[in-house]
Amino acid sequence: MASQPNRSVIQRMFARKSIAQVQRETQASELKRSLGKWNLLLLGVGCIIGAGIFVRTGSAAALHAGPAVLLSFVVAGIVCAFAGLCYAELSSTLPVSGSAYTYGYTTLGEFIAWIMGALLLLEYGLAASVVAVGWGGYVVSLLADFGLQIPPQLTGPAGYTLMRDGAPVLVDGQTVTTLFNLPAFLICMALAGLLVVGVSESAKVNNVIVAIKVSVLAAFILVGGAIVLANLPELMAQNWVPFIPPYDAAANKGEGAFGVDGIMRAASIVFFAYIGFEAVSTAGQEAKDPAKDMPFGIIGSLVVCTVIYMLVAAIMTLLVPYNTLNVPDPVAVVVDNFGPAWGWLAKIIKIGAIIGLTSVVLVLMYAQTRIFYTMARDGLLPKVFSRVNKRFQTPALNTLVVGLVTAVAAGFFDINVLGDMTSVGTLAAFAIVCLSVIYLRRVAPELPRGFKVPLYPVVPVLGILSCAYLIYTVPLNVLTFFAWYMVGGVALYFIYGIHNSNLQHGDPQDDAPDMGEFPGPVVD
Ligand code: ALA
Repeated sequence: MASQPNRSVIQRMFARKSIAQVQRETQASELKRSLGKWNLLLLGVGCIIGAGIFVRTGSAAALHAGPAVLLSFVVAGIVCAFAGLCYAELSSTLPVSGSAYTYGYTTLGEFIAWIMGALLLLEYGLAASVVAVGWGGYVVSLLADFGLQIPPQLTGPAGYTLMRDGAPVLVDGQTVTTLFNLPAFLICMALAGLLVVGVSESAKVNNVIVAIKVSVLAAFILVGGAIVLANLPELMAQNWVPFIPPYDAAANKGEGAFGVDGIMRAASIVFFAYIGFEAVSTAGQEAKDPAKDMPFGIIGSLVVCTVIYMLVAAIMTLLVPYNTLNVPDPVAVVVDNFGPAWGWLAKIIKIGAIIGLTSVVLVLMYAQTRIFYTMARDGLLPKVFSRVNKRFQTPALNTLVVGLVTAVAAGFFDINVLGDMTSVGTLAAFAIVCLSVIYLRRVAPELPRGFKVPLYPVVPVLGILSCAYLIYTVPLNVLTFFAWYMVGGVALYFIYGIHNSNLQHGDPQDDAPDMGEFPGPVVD
Protein backbone atom coordinates (compact mmCIF):
# COMPACT_ATOMS: atom_id res chain seq x y z
CA MET A 1 0.00 0.00 0.00
CA ALA A 2 1.48 3.30 -1.00
CA SER A 3 0.39 6.12 1.27
CA GLN A 4 0.19 9.68 -0.02
CA PRO A 5 2.89 11.45 1.99
CA ASN A 6 2.58 14.81 0.24
CA ARG A 7 -0.84 15.56 1.62
CA SER A 8 -1.10 17.51 4.85
CA VAL A 9 -2.76 16.01 7.92
CA ILE A 10 -5.66 18.42 7.46
CA GLN A 11 -6.14 17.32 3.85
CA ARG A 12 -6.03 13.71 4.95
CA MET A 13 -8.53 14.30 7.77
CA PHE A 14 -11.03 15.81 5.40
CA ALA A 15 -10.57 13.34 2.56
CA ARG A 16 -13.99 12.42 1.23
CA LYS A 17 -15.39 9.35 -0.42
CA SER A 18 -16.96 10.16 -3.74
CA ILE A 19 -20.61 9.38 -4.17
CA ALA A 20 -19.69 7.16 -7.12
CA GLN A 21 -17.34 5.20 -4.85
CA VAL A 22 -20.00 4.63 -2.20
CA GLN A 23 -22.47 3.66 -4.89
CA ARG A 24 -19.97 1.11 -6.24
CA GLU A 25 -19.62 -0.32 -2.77
CA THR A 26 -23.34 -0.71 -2.32
CA GLN A 27 -23.97 -2.01 -5.83
CA ALA A 28 -23.63 -5.58 -4.61
CA SER A 29 -27.04 -5.21 -3.03
CA GLU A 30 -29.17 -3.68 -5.77
CA LEU A 31 -32.42 -3.12 -3.96
CA LYS A 32 -35.93 -3.21 -5.25
CA ARG A 33 -38.00 -0.05 -4.84
CA SER A 34 -40.81 -1.79 -3.04
CA LEU A 35 -41.51 0.27 0.09
CA GLY A 36 -44.45 2.68 0.06
CA LYS A 37 -45.03 5.48 2.55
CA TRP A 38 -47.01 3.35 5.02
CA ASN A 39 -44.38 0.62 4.87
CA LEU A 40 -41.75 3.20 5.81
CA LEU A 41 -43.88 4.57 8.61
CA LEU A 42 -44.30 1.07 10.07
CA LEU A 43 -40.60 0.43 9.70
CA GLY A 44 -39.94 3.54 11.78
CA VAL A 45 -42.48 2.69 14.47
CA GLY A 46 -41.03 -0.81 14.70
CA CYS A 47 -37.51 0.46 15.26
CA ILE A 48 -38.46 3.27 17.65
CA ILE A 49 -40.60 1.71 20.38
CA GLY A 50 -38.56 0.10 23.13
CA ALA A 51 -37.01 0.78 26.51
CA GLY A 52 -37.61 4.51 26.16
CA ILE A 53 -41.32 4.19 26.80
CA PHE A 54 -41.31 0.89 28.70
CA VAL A 55 -38.60 1.94 31.15
CA ARG A 56 -37.07 5.43 30.97
CA THR A 57 -40.33 7.37 31.05
CA GLY A 58 -40.71 6.29 34.67
CA SER A 59 -37.55 7.94 35.99
CA ALA A 60 -38.01 10.97 33.70
CA ALA A 61 -41.41 11.62 35.33
CA ALA A 62 -40.43 10.64 38.87
CA LEU A 63 -37.17 12.56 39.09
CA HIS A 64 -37.44 15.41 36.61
CA ALA A 65 -40.73 16.44 35.04
CA GLY A 66 -43.65 14.93 36.95
CA PRO A 67 -46.83 14.71 34.80
CA ALA A 68 -45.29 17.33 32.50
CA VAL A 69 -43.19 14.52 31.06
CA LEU A 70 -45.89 14.71 28.36
CA LEU A 71 -44.38 18.03 27.30
CA SER A 72 -40.90 16.48 27.37
CA PHE A 73 -42.08 14.00 24.73
CA VAL A 74 -43.25 16.90 22.56
CA VAL A 75 -39.90 18.69 22.95
CA ALA A 76 -37.89 15.56 22.16
CA GLY A 77 -40.19 14.76 19.22
CA ILE A 78 -39.66 18.22 17.72
CA VAL A 79 -35.87 17.95 18.06
CA CYS A 80 -36.04 14.58 16.29
CA ALA A 81 -38.26 16.06 13.57
CA PHE A 82 -35.60 18.71 12.74
CA ALA A 83 -32.96 16.00 12.51
CA GLY A 84 -35.38 13.67 10.71
CA LEU A 85 -36.00 16.20 7.94
CA CYS A 86 -32.23 16.55 7.52
CA TYR A 87 -31.85 12.77 7.34
CA ALA A 88 -34.58 12.73 4.69
CA GLU A 89 -32.75 15.34 2.58
CA LEU A 90 -29.41 13.53 2.84
CA SER A 91 -30.91 10.17 1.99
CA SER A 92 -32.62 11.63 -1.07
CA THR A 93 -29.48 13.52 -2.17
CA LEU A 94 -26.82 10.89 -1.57
CA PRO A 95 -28.08 7.79 -3.27
CA VAL A 96 -26.25 5.47 -0.93
CA SER A 97 -27.75 3.18 1.59
CA GLY A 98 -26.16 3.35 4.97
CA SER A 99 -25.94 5.21 8.17
CA ALA A 100 -24.87 8.69 9.17
CA TYR A 101 -21.32 7.32 9.04
CA THR A 102 -21.54 7.04 5.26
CA TYR A 103 -23.20 10.45 4.95
CA GLY A 104 -20.34 11.90 7.00
CA TYR A 105 -17.71 10.23 4.81
CA THR A 106 -19.20 11.65 1.61
CA THR A 107 -19.82 15.17 2.92
CA LEU A 108 -17.62 16.36 5.78
CA GLY A 109 -14.81 13.86 5.24
CA GLU A 110 -13.02 11.02 6.96
CA PHE A 111 -12.34 12.58 10.35
CA ILE A 112 -16.00 13.48 10.84
CA ALA A 113 -16.95 10.01 9.60
CA TRP A 114 -14.71 8.58 12.30
CA ILE A 115 -16.29 10.84 14.92
CA MET A 116 -19.65 9.67 13.63
CA GLY A 117 -18.51 6.07 14.06
CA ALA A 118 -17.65 6.83 17.70
CA LEU A 119 -21.03 8.50 18.24
CA LEU A 120 -22.91 5.66 16.59
CA LEU A 121 -21.22 3.24 18.99
CA LEU A 122 -23.13 5.14 21.68
CA GLU A 123 -26.33 5.37 19.64
CA TYR A 124 -26.47 1.68 18.80
CA GLY A 125 -24.01 -0.25 20.96
CA LEU A 126 -24.70 1.51 24.23
CA ALA A 127 -28.41 1.83 23.45
CA ALA A 128 -28.47 -1.97 23.18
CA SER A 129 -27.09 -2.07 26.75
CA VAL A 130 -29.80 0.32 27.97
CA VAL A 131 -32.57 -1.76 26.42
CA ALA A 132 -30.97 -4.93 27.82
CA VAL A 133 -31.09 -3.42 31.33
CA GLY A 134 -34.76 -2.55 30.72
CA TRP A 135 -35.32 -6.13 29.56
CA GLY A 136 -33.72 -7.36 32.79
CA GLY A 137 -36.07 -5.21 34.87
CA TYR A 138 -39.17 -6.72 33.27
CA VAL A 139 -37.76 -10.27 33.51
CA VAL A 140 -36.99 -9.92 37.22
CA SER A 141 -40.47 -8.50 37.79
CA LEU A 142 -42.20 -11.26 35.78
CA LEU A 143 -40.23 -14.03 37.50
CA ALA A 144 -41.21 -12.53 40.87
CA ASP A 145 -44.88 -12.80 39.82
CA PHE A 146 -44.30 -16.54 39.47
CA GLY A 147 -42.47 -16.75 42.82
CA LEU A 148 -39.00 -17.03 41.27
CA GLN A 149 -36.25 -14.82 42.70
CA ILE A 150 -32.92 -14.03 41.11
CA PRO A 151 -30.46 -13.16 43.93
CA PRO A 152 -31.08 -9.39 44.28
CA GLN A 153 -27.34 -8.64 44.24
CA LEU A 154 -27.30 -9.92 40.66
CA THR A 155 -30.07 -7.67 39.38
CA GLY A 156 -28.42 -4.24 39.25
CA PRO A 157 -25.26 -2.30 38.39
CA ALA A 158 -22.08 -2.48 40.45
CA GLY A 159 -22.26 -0.64 43.75
CA TYR A 160 -25.87 0.60 43.82
CA THR A 161 -28.42 0.32 46.61
CA LEU A 162 -31.35 -1.73 45.34
CA MET A 163 -34.49 0.43 45.41
CA ARG A 164 -38.17 -0.35 45.03
CA ASP A 165 -41.02 2.19 45.20
CA GLY A 166 -38.59 4.93 46.15
CA ALA A 167 -37.22 3.06 49.18
CA PRO A 168 -34.25 0.71 49.65
CA VAL A 169 -35.12 -2.99 49.40
CA LEU A 170 -34.36 -4.78 52.67
CA VAL A 171 -33.28 -8.41 52.82
CA ASP A 172 -32.97 -9.74 56.39
CA GLY A 173 -33.24 -6.14 57.57
CA GLN A 174 -30.23 -5.06 55.49
CA THR A 175 -30.12 -2.84 52.40
CA VAL A 176 -28.91 -4.67 49.31
CA THR A 177 -25.94 -3.42 47.29
CA THR A 178 -26.07 -4.74 43.75
CA LEU A 179 -22.94 -6.20 42.16
CA PHE A 180 -23.84 -7.10 38.63
CA ASN A 181 -26.88 -7.20 36.34
CA LEU A 182 -26.87 -10.84 35.35
CA PRO A 183 -30.08 -10.91 33.24
CA ALA A 184 -28.97 -7.90 31.18
CA PHE A 185 -25.51 -9.42 30.66
CA LEU A 186 -26.94 -12.77 29.61
CA ILE A 187 -29.45 -11.38 27.11
CA CYS A 188 -26.69 -9.43 25.32
CA MET A 189 -24.49 -12.51 25.05
CA ALA A 190 -27.38 -14.74 23.98
CA LEU A 191 -28.47 -12.32 21.25
CA ALA A 192 -24.88 -11.92 20.05
CA GLY A 193 -24.85 -15.70 19.71
CA LEU A 194 -28.06 -15.61 17.66
CA LEU A 195 -26.64 -12.86 15.43
CA VAL A 196 -23.52 -14.96 14.85
CA VAL A 197 -25.61 -17.83 13.53
CA GLY A 198 -27.56 -15.40 11.38
CA VAL A 199 -30.90 -14.85 13.07
CA SER A 200 -31.23 -11.40 11.49
CA GLU A 201 -32.41 -13.22 8.38
CA SER A 202 -35.77 -13.78 10.02
CA ALA A 203 -37.17 -10.34 9.41
CA LYS A 204 -40.70 -11.75 9.34
CA VAL A 205 -40.32 -12.82 12.97
CA ASN A 206 -39.35 -9.23 13.62
CA ASN A 207 -42.66 -8.12 12.09
CA VAL A 208 -44.57 -10.29 14.52
CA ILE A 209 -42.57 -8.87 17.41
CA VAL A 210 -43.31 -5.31 16.31
CA ALA A 211 -47.00 -6.22 16.25
CA ILE A 212 -46.72 -7.64 19.78
CA LYS A 213 -45.10 -4.56 21.31
CA VAL A 214 -47.53 -2.17 19.63
CA SER A 215 -50.47 -4.36 20.77
CA VAL A 216 -49.21 -4.34 24.34
CA LEU A 217 -49.11 -0.55 24.38
CA ALA A 218 -52.50 -0.40 22.64
CA ALA A 219 -53.99 -2.67 25.34
CA PHE A 220 -52.45 -0.46 28.02
CA ILE A 221 -53.90 2.66 26.38
CA LEU A 222 -57.37 1.14 25.88
CA VAL A 223 -57.83 -0.37 29.33
CA GLY A 224 -55.95 2.35 31.19
CA GLY A 225 -57.69 5.04 29.15
CA ALA A 226 -61.12 3.63 30.01
CA ILE A 227 -60.27 3.57 33.72
CA VAL A 228 -58.90 7.11 33.53
CA LEU A 229 -61.93 8.46 31.67
CA ALA A 230 -64.28 6.92 34.22
CA ASN A 231 -62.49 8.73 37.06
CA LEU A 232 -60.97 11.73 35.33
CA PRO A 233 -61.82 14.59 37.74
CA GLU A 234 -60.60 12.73 40.86
CA LEU A 235 -57.46 11.40 39.16
CA MET A 236 -56.57 14.83 37.81
CA ALA A 237 -57.07 16.41 41.22
CA GLN A 238 -55.02 13.66 42.89
CA ASN A 239 -52.10 13.25 40.50
CA TRP A 240 -52.00 16.12 38.03
CA VAL A 241 -52.13 19.06 40.40
CA PRO A 242 -49.69 20.63 39.93
CA PHE A 243 -49.11 19.44 36.37
CA ILE A 244 -45.62 20.96 36.42
CA PRO A 245 -44.25 20.39 39.94
CA PRO A 246 -42.26 23.41 41.13
CA TYR A 247 -38.52 23.57 40.59
CA ASP A 248 -36.75 21.67 43.32
CA ALA A 249 -33.11 22.70 43.51
CA ALA A 250 -32.31 20.35 46.36
CA ALA A 251 -33.81 17.24 44.77
CA ASN A 252 -31.67 14.98 42.65
CA LYS A 253 -28.51 16.93 43.43
CA GLY A 254 -29.97 20.07 41.97
CA GLU A 255 -29.98 18.92 38.35
CA GLY A 256 -33.13 19.57 36.39
CA ALA A 257 -35.66 18.46 38.96
CA PHE A 258 -39.14 19.80 38.06
CA GLY A 259 -40.14 23.16 36.71
CA VAL A 260 -39.26 24.07 33.13
CA ASP A 261 -35.67 22.90 33.66
CA GLY A 262 -37.03 19.52 34.65
CA ILE A 263 -39.16 19.28 31.50
CA MET A 264 -36.09 19.94 29.37
CA ARG A 265 -33.93 17.51 31.34
CA ALA A 266 -36.63 14.87 30.99
CA ALA A 267 -36.72 15.62 27.24
CA SER A 268 -33.06 14.60 26.99
CA ILE A 269 -33.99 11.34 28.78
CA VAL A 270 -37.11 10.46 26.79
CA PHE A 271 -35.25 11.47 23.62
CA PHE A 272 -33.95 7.91 23.92
CA ALA A 273 -37.47 6.70 23.15
CA TYR A 274 -37.25 8.16 19.62
CA ILE A 275 -33.87 6.72 18.67
CA GLY A 276 -34.29 4.44 15.69
CA PHE A 277 -36.43 6.64 13.43
CA GLU A 278 -33.36 7.25 11.26
CA ALA A 279 -33.58 3.59 10.29
CA VAL A 280 -36.24 4.83 7.87
CA SER A 281 -33.59 6.87 6.07
CA THR A 282 -31.46 3.76 5.60
CA ALA A 283 -34.27 2.43 3.42
CA GLY A 284 -33.90 5.35 0.99
CA GLN A 285 -32.86 2.98 -1.80
CA GLU A 286 -35.99 0.91 -1.38
CA ALA A 287 -38.58 3.68 -1.26
CA LYS A 288 -40.97 3.79 -4.23
CA ASP A 289 -41.03 7.57 -4.30
CA PRO A 290 -38.28 8.80 -1.97
CA ALA A 291 -39.12 12.49 -2.40
CA LYS A 292 -42.55 12.04 -0.87
CA ASP A 293 -42.30 8.74 0.98
CA MET A 294 -39.16 9.38 3.05
CA PRO A 295 -40.38 12.53 4.83
CA PHE A 296 -43.76 10.87 5.30
CA GLY A 297 -42.13 7.78 6.82
CA ILE A 298 -39.78 9.72 9.10
CA ILE A 299 -42.13 12.46 10.28
CA GLY A 300 -45.13 10.11 10.29
CA SER A 301 -43.42 7.57 12.54
CA LEU A 302 -42.30 10.38 14.87
CA VAL A 303 -45.86 11.73 15.08
CA VAL A 304 -47.40 8.29 15.67
CA CYS A 305 -44.85 7.50 18.39
CA THR A 306 -45.27 10.91 20.01
CA VAL A 307 -49.03 10.33 20.25
CA ILE A 308 -48.55 6.80 21.65
CA TYR A 309 -45.94 8.03 24.13
CA MET A 310 -48.06 10.94 25.33
CA LEU A 311 -51.09 8.71 25.84
CA VAL A 312 -49.05 6.13 27.75
CA ALA A 313 -47.37 8.84 29.84
CA ALA A 314 -50.70 10.54 30.57
CA ILE A 315 -52.26 7.29 31.77
CA MET A 316 -49.20 6.45 33.86
CA THR A 317 -49.05 9.80 35.62
CA LEU A 318 -52.83 9.98 36.13
CA LEU A 319 -53.18 6.51 37.61
CA VAL A 320 -50.27 6.57 40.06
CA PRO A 321 -48.39 9.43 41.78
CA TYR A 322 -45.47 10.31 39.49
CA ASN A 323 -42.93 9.91 42.28
CA THR A 324 -43.62 6.17 42.46
CA LEU A 325 -42.57 5.60 38.86
CA ASN A 326 -38.79 5.39 39.32
CA VAL A 327 -38.81 1.60 38.90
CA PRO A 328 -37.39 -0.77 36.27
CA ASP A 329 -40.88 -1.73 35.02
CA PRO A 330 -43.08 1.40 35.30
CA VAL A 331 -45.70 0.28 32.76
CA ALA A 332 -46.25 -2.94 34.71
CA VAL A 333 -46.41 -1.05 38.01
CA VAL A 334 -49.22 1.08 36.61
CA VAL A 335 -51.09 -1.96 35.32
CA ASP A 336 -50.94 -3.40 38.84
CA ASN A 337 -53.01 -0.34 39.77
CA PHE A 338 -55.72 -1.15 37.23
CA GLY A 339 -57.29 -3.27 39.99
CA PRO A 340 -57.28 -6.95 40.99
CA ALA A 341 -59.36 -7.95 37.95
CA TRP A 342 -56.50 -6.97 35.66
CA GLY A 343 -53.69 -9.07 37.22
CA TRP A 344 -53.53 -11.23 34.08
CA LEU A 345 -53.02 -8.14 31.91
CA ALA A 346 -49.99 -7.09 33.96
CA LYS A 347 -48.35 -10.45 33.20
CA ILE A 348 -49.21 -10.21 29.49
CA ILE A 349 -47.82 -6.71 29.30
CA LYS A 350 -44.61 -7.82 30.96
CA ILE A 351 -44.26 -10.73 28.53
CA GLY A 352 -45.01 -8.42 25.59
CA ALA A 353 -42.47 -5.88 26.81
CA ILE A 354 -39.83 -8.60 27.23
CA ILE A 355 -40.42 -9.88 23.69
CA GLY A 356 -40.48 -6.35 22.26
CA LEU A 357 -37.33 -5.26 24.08
CA THR A 358 -35.54 -8.43 22.92
CA SER A 359 -36.08 -7.41 19.30
CA VAL A 360 -34.84 -3.86 19.96
CA VAL A 361 -31.59 -5.17 21.51
CA LEU A 362 -31.20 -7.48 18.52
CA VAL A 363 -31.71 -4.74 15.91
CA LEU A 364 -29.44 -2.26 17.73
CA MET A 365 -26.67 -4.84 18.07
CA TYR A 366 -27.08 -5.81 14.44
CA ALA A 367 -26.78 -2.18 13.35
CA GLN A 368 -23.65 -1.77 15.48
CA THR A 369 -21.95 -4.82 13.96
CA ARG A 370 -22.67 -3.52 10.44
CA ILE A 371 -21.20 -0.09 11.24
CA PHE A 372 -18.02 -1.74 12.54
CA TYR A 373 -18.07 -3.96 9.46
CA THR A 374 -18.26 -0.98 7.10
CA MET A 375 -15.56 0.89 9.02
CA ALA A 376 -13.29 -2.16 8.84
CA ARG A 377 -13.90 -2.43 5.10
CA ASP A 378 -12.85 1.21 4.84
CA GLY A 379 -9.67 0.41 6.74
CA LEU A 380 -10.66 2.57 9.71
CA LEU A 381 -10.91 -0.46 12.00
CA PRO A 382 -8.83 -3.65 11.97
CA LYS A 383 -9.80 -6.07 9.21
CA VAL A 384 -10.92 -8.72 11.73
CA PHE A 385 -14.13 -6.71 12.04
CA SER A 386 -14.97 -7.35 8.39
CA ARG A 387 -13.94 -10.99 8.43
CA VAL A 388 -16.92 -13.16 7.62
CA ASN A 389 -17.33 -16.57 9.19
CA LYS A 390 -17.45 -19.13 6.39
CA ARG A 391 -19.98 -21.37 8.05
CA PHE A 392 -22.50 -18.75 9.19
CA GLN A 393 -21.79 -16.02 6.61
CA THR A 394 -21.83 -13.42 9.37
CA PRO A 395 -19.06 -11.22 10.82
CA ALA A 396 -18.75 -13.54 13.80
CA LEU A 397 -15.79 -12.06 15.65
CA ASN A 398 -17.13 -8.53 15.19
CA THR A 399 -20.49 -9.67 16.57
CA LEU A 400 -18.93 -11.35 19.59
CA VAL A 401 -16.91 -8.22 20.39
CA VAL A 402 -20.05 -6.07 20.12
CA GLY A 403 -21.95 -8.60 22.27
CA LEU A 404 -19.27 -8.60 24.94
CA VAL A 405 -18.94 -4.80 25.07
CA THR A 406 -22.71 -4.26 25.30
CA ALA A 407 -23.03 -7.09 27.85
CA VAL A 408 -20.30 -5.70 30.12
CA ALA A 409 -21.79 -2.19 29.94
CA ALA A 410 -25.27 -3.58 30.70
CA GLY A 411 -23.90 -5.74 33.51
CA PHE A 412 -21.99 -3.09 35.41
CA PHE A 413 -23.46 0.33 34.68
CA ASP A 414 -26.57 2.16 35.85
CA ILE A 415 -29.31 2.51 33.23
CA ASN A 416 -29.56 6.27 33.80
CA VAL A 417 -25.87 6.84 33.08
CA LEU A 418 -25.96 4.51 30.07
CA GLY A 419 -29.13 6.17 28.77
CA ASP A 420 -27.68 9.67 29.18
CA MET A 421 -24.51 8.67 27.33
CA THR A 422 -26.64 7.25 24.53
CA SER A 423 -28.74 10.40 24.32
CA VAL A 424 -25.68 12.68 24.27
CA GLY A 425 -23.95 10.61 21.58
CA THR A 426 -27.07 10.47 19.44
CA LEU A 427 -27.81 14.18 19.83
CA ALA A 428 -24.24 14.97 18.74
CA ALA A 429 -24.65 12.64 15.74
CA PHE A 430 -27.93 14.34 14.80
CA ALA A 431 -26.30 17.76 15.02
CA ILE A 432 -23.60 16.61 12.59
CA VAL A 433 -26.28 15.32 10.21
CA CYS A 434 -27.95 18.76 10.28
CA LEU A 435 -24.55 20.36 9.64
CA SER A 436 -23.95 18.01 6.69
CA VAL A 437 -27.14 19.29 5.05
CA ILE A 438 -25.91 22.90 5.28
CA TYR A 439 -22.44 21.92 4.07
CA LEU A 440 -23.77 19.97 1.09
CA ARG A 441 -26.12 22.77 0.06
CA ARG A 442 -23.12 25.11 -0.03
CA VAL A 443 -20.55 22.91 -1.76
CA ALA A 444 -22.85 20.98 -4.08
CA PRO A 445 -25.97 23.05 -4.70
CA GLU A 446 -26.36 21.44 -8.11
CA LEU A 447 -26.93 17.89 -6.80
CA PRO A 448 -30.49 16.79 -7.47
CA ARG A 449 -32.39 16.57 -4.20
CA GLY A 450 -35.43 14.33 -4.11
CA PHE A 451 -36.47 16.03 -0.89
CA LYS A 452 -35.39 19.38 0.51
CA VAL A 453 -35.82 20.44 4.12
CA PRO A 454 -38.49 23.13 4.30
CA LEU A 455 -37.51 26.62 5.48
CA TYR A 456 -33.82 26.09 4.79
CA PRO A 457 -31.56 27.02 6.63
CA VAL A 458 -33.90 27.48 9.61
CA VAL A 459 -34.62 23.77 10.09
CA PRO A 460 -31.02 22.46 10.11
CA VAL A 461 -29.86 25.41 12.23
CA LEU A 462 -32.66 24.80 14.74
CA GLY A 463 -31.74 21.11 14.61
CA ILE A 464 -28.15 21.87 15.62
CA LEU A 465 -29.16 24.34 18.33
CA SER A 466 -31.86 22.15 19.84
CA CYS A 467 -29.58 19.09 19.93
CA ALA A 468 -26.89 21.23 21.60
CA TYR A 469 -29.41 22.49 24.14
CA LEU A 470 -30.58 19.01 25.13
CA ILE A 471 -26.94 17.93 25.50
CA TYR A 472 -26.46 20.90 27.83
CA THR A 473 -29.24 19.65 30.13
CA VAL A 474 -27.40 16.38 30.85
CA PRO A 475 -25.47 16.21 34.17
CA LEU A 476 -21.87 17.31 34.14
CA ASN A 477 -20.44 13.94 35.18
CA VAL A 478 -21.95 12.30 32.08
CA LEU A 479 -20.73 15.13 29.84
CA THR A 480 -17.24 14.80 31.32
CA PHE A 481 -17.29 11.07 30.65
CA PHE A 482 -18.50 11.79 27.11
CA ALA A 483 -15.71 14.32 26.57
CA TRP A 484 -13.08 11.77 27.64
CA TYR A 485 -14.68 9.15 25.41
CA MET A 486 -14.39 11.51 22.44
CA VAL A 487 -10.79 12.45 23.32
CA GLY A 488 -9.99 8.73 23.31
CA GLY A 489 -11.80 8.35 19.97
CA VAL A 490 -9.88 11.21 18.37
CA ALA A 491 -6.59 9.82 19.68
CA LEU A 492 -7.39 6.44 18.15
CA TYR A 493 -8.02 8.10 14.80
CA PHE A 494 -4.53 9.57 14.78
CA ILE A 495 -2.96 6.39 16.14
CA TYR A 496 -4.78 3.98 13.84
CA GLY A 497 -7.47 5.27 11.49
CA ILE A 498 -5.59 7.90 9.51
CA HIS A 499 -2.72 5.50 8.84
CA ASN A 500 -4.79 2.55 7.75
CA SER A 501 -7.74 4.03 5.91
CA ASN A 502 -8.15 2.74 2.34
CA LEU A 503 -9.01 6.23 1.17
CA GLN A 504 -5.64 7.59 2.36
CA HIS A 505 -3.88 4.95 0.31
CA GLY A 506 -5.99 5.55 -2.74
CA ASP A 507 -7.03 1.93 -2.46
CA PRO A 508 -10.33 0.65 -3.71
CA GLN A 509 -12.70 -1.29 -1.52
CA ASP A 510 -11.41 -4.59 -0.21
CA ASP A 511 -13.18 -7.65 -1.48
CA ALA A 512 -15.15 -8.54 1.65
CA PRO A 513 -18.69 -9.55 0.75
CA ASP A 514 -21.61 -7.22 1.30
CA MET A 515 -23.48 -8.08 4.48
CA GLY A 516 -26.95 -6.98 3.47
CA GLU A 517 -29.29 -4.38 4.82
CA PHE A 518 -30.61 -3.17 8.13
CA PRO A 519 -33.10 -5.77 9.31
CA GLY A 520 -36.19 -3.69 9.72
CA PRO A 521 -39.55 -5.39 9.64
CA VAL A 522 -40.54 -6.87 6.32
CA VAL A 523 -43.44 -4.78 5.17
CA ASP A 524 -44.59 -6.26 1.91
N1 ALA B 1 -36.03 4.03 20.82
C1 ALA B 1 -35.51 2.80 21.28
C2 ALA B 1 -36.01 2.46 22.63
O1 ALA B 1 -36.73 3.23 23.21
C3 ALA B 1 -34.02 2.78 21.25
O2 ALA B 1 -35.68 1.41 23.13
